[in-house]
Amino acid sequence: MSSQTSALVMGVGPEQGLGAALCRRFAKEEMQVFVCGRTKDKVDAVCSSITNQNGNAVPIVTDVTEIKQVEGMINIIRDSQLPLELAVYNAGNNLPQKFLDVTAETFTSMWEVLCFGGFLTSQAIIRLMLEQSEVARRQSLLFTGASGSIRGKAGFSAFASGKGALRMLSQSLAREFGPQGIHVAHVIIDGVINGDKVVKGFPEYAEGLGKDGLLDLDAIAENYWNLHRQHNTAWTQEIDLRPYKESF
Ligand SMILES: NC(=O)c1ccc[n+]([C@@H]2O[C@H](COP(=O)([O-])OP(=O)(O)OC[C@H]3O[C@@H](n4cnc5c(N)ncnc54)[C@H](OP(=O)(O)O)[C@@H]3O)[C@@H](O)[C@H]2O)c1
Repeated sequence: MSSQTSALVMGVGPEQGLGAALCRRFAKEEMQVFVCGRTKDKVDAVCSSITNQNGNAVPIVTDVTEIKQVEGMINIIRDSQLPLELAVYNAGNNLPQKFLDVTAETFTSMWEVLCFGGFLTSQAIIRLMLEQSEVARRQSLLFTGASGSIRGKAGFSAFASGKGALRMLSQSLAREFGPQGIHVAHVIIDGVINGDKVVKGFPEYAEGLGKDGLLDLDAIAENYWNLHRQHNTAWTQEIDLRPYKESF
């Protein structure tokens, strides 16, 4: 299959994870998908499952907090000659901890992944999108948020600080680059994702949430695709997603 446009997902981990689900969804639209994560085995596995379904996926192993690696990632995308129409900053980590136990190193490394990588990659992506604006049909830059993007709960000081800052970054970029045709939007995942991170990492907790207690991966991915497809006279800057029975 030959693709006319491309999509980039940054922060791709296990096949049962949001990053991978976004890659699969965009590949269904015949886009060439750049699958970016920091662990080669995981990135390769996601690419193989897409190509096995006749999709078009290219692995890029990049740590999104390292400027040289981000430059390398953008060069691969630019060299592909396909307009980059859709990019998602999905990289994230979490480490619930009592505030007095959070070290400066933990706080800094969480912030680097949750926010600084969003800054580094957005700058490179927006530069590329502006270069390509004549040839792209539409251009979207989407960010994955969490409950912590809008609410700092006890035990989540580092996580909420990073996610809150990423949300503000997305708002600044939306206001600066929306008028230049780049749709910047932020997706608040307000609940637990039905993916490996929690289902394998905290099985009892996941089970305790019961039927429909976790957000379905494909259902989340559909919402990202819908944001990208919005007509430019009716853009959304932020959406929140949660299971119907989640209390909020
Ligand atoms: N899981 C949840 O219940 C939940 C709830 C609300 C919001 N979220 C948010 O949703 C997003 C996806 O979560 P998910 O749990 O489904 O994870 P995922 O999409 O399966 O994986 C995200 C991946 O980001 C990668 N990553 C971390 N730091 C990176 C870096 N510096 N450079 C490149 N990649 C990096 C990690 O790769 P490695 O595996 O190789 O370390 C991780 O697997 C995250 O932003 C998260 O904060 C998750």
